[in-house]
Amino acid sequence: MSARFDPAAYAESAHATVDLLAAHVAASQRGEGVATVRPPAEDVVRDLDLHRLLREGGLDATTWPAFLQAYLDRGVHLHHPGSIAHQVTVPDSPGALGDLVHGVINNPMGIDEMGAAAAAAERAVVAWMLERAGMPDGEGALTHGGSLANLTALLAARAHVAPEAWAQGTPADLVLLAPASAHYSVRRSAAIIGMGERGIVELPSDALGRIDPGALDATLAAVTAEGRRPLALVAAACATSTGLHDDLRTIGAWCREHGVWLHADAAHGGSALLSARLRTRLDGIEQADSVVWDAHKQLGVAGLCAAVLIRHPGGLRAAFRQDASYIFYEDHEEADDLLELTVECTKAPLGVKVLLELGFRGEAAVAEAIERRHDVALEAARLLAAHPDIDVPYTPESTIVCFRHVPSDDAGQLAIRDRLMAAGRFHLSSAVVAGRRHLRLVVSAPDTTAATIAALVDEVTSG
Ligand SMILES: Cc1ncc(COP(=O)(O)O)c(C=O)c1O
Repeated sequence: MSARFDPAAYAESAHATVDLLAAHVAASQRGEGVATVRPPAEDVVRDLDLHRLLREGGLDATTWPAFLQAYLDRGVHLHHPGSIAHQVTVPDSPGALGDLVHGVINNPMGIDEMGAAAAAAERAVVAWMLERAGMPDGEGALTHGGSLANLTALLAARAHVAPEAWAQGTPADLVLLAPASAHYSVRRSAAIIGMGERGIVELPSDALGRIDPGALDATLAAVTAEGRRPLALVAAACATSTGLHDDLRTIGAWCREHGVWLHADAAHGGSALLSARLRTRLDGIEQADSVVWDAHKQLGVAGLCAAVLIRHPGGLRAAFRQDASYIFYEDHEEADDLLELTVECTKAPLGVKVLLELGFRGEAAVAEAIERRHDVALEAARLLAAHPDIDVPYTPESTIVCFRHVPSDDAGQLAIRDRLMAAGRFHLSSAVVAGRRHLRLVVSAPDTTAATIAALVDEVTSG
């Protein structure tokens, strides 16, 4: 068989694919089957005959539907109401169309000439996100994930604080102020930009991991006394483990007063900016110098699609100073290509997905879906806490809820998670909160309701 795109064969297999996927989503939405499976990797390799396919081929329009079904059967089913483990969005159908189109036309538009429409869509989406984050004059880009977006934001902070660093390397006196609860990509980013882990100064936090704003003066005084200076302060909106928000208003005012770059990691919580009711949780974000906001966490588009937003005009461009003669031509100072703003060169057209989601649904409906998930999380906390054997250590401020089965020890929490995953109806995660292992849920699926949580309470407590 020739390796050439055959439009008729594509249409046949694509129609079959879409039909199977639609049926898969419909069944998952009804709660049929399992939310997750965890087959051993070697079983999956065997069942899907992966090695033989790689070496000998064998897929065609006839065998593909069975392969796809087997593939779907061995993955997580995010549309299932019991899928409440992680912060990945349940893709909505408009955003999914973007990935379908990209798979065929492949317009990686780091430079405009490689996909003018996709590049324009990204610019429009970034402008919209900047506006929603209260940075209408800022500069931003979409990246393949929040981790890369965090790295990019810190590069922008570095260009601001130490513009010589691009040529000379990161100055040894720079430190990053961040709480222990910051997402691990923050620590990694510090190491990647050459600060080393010793470059991180851990900010004092309360028992739930929120930055203690009252301790900032003392931390800065200690840093200064050592002859070091802050690159940036990282605050969460909201924290990965708990979903709780740092006090951006107080922290932001302190950062302004002391000339410290505030990076608000709103990878998960940024989408709450769309809701008039929920955006107060991010009060103070207007004081942030940089913001990360993942569309693939709460905006209904599949991974990856994250935004890095910088308040200062030119502040993102400043992060990257480089030559590459095959794409940057002599007049590139006037060029406005997206790759001047990102680590990536080749990049998927991430903005199109958000554009389609908003274009089909409208911002009000997207905001409503976000509010509904937050409401279900609150209701979940109430239902869980109502059981005498379950402790919920805080009132949720996002879609993330941590809880603990009181009669079980730390290992017991994980045993409950394993038991539930083996049964398949619920996929939970887990996190350490206030020094103790907790179970953790994230409300994502539109079909996850109070009834789902009531069933979860039964399963957790019935072991
Ligand atoms: C607060 C926060 N920042 C950054 C990230 C990393 O985002 P990504 O998984 O898109 O790399 C996460 C992911 O969970 C997160 O919760």
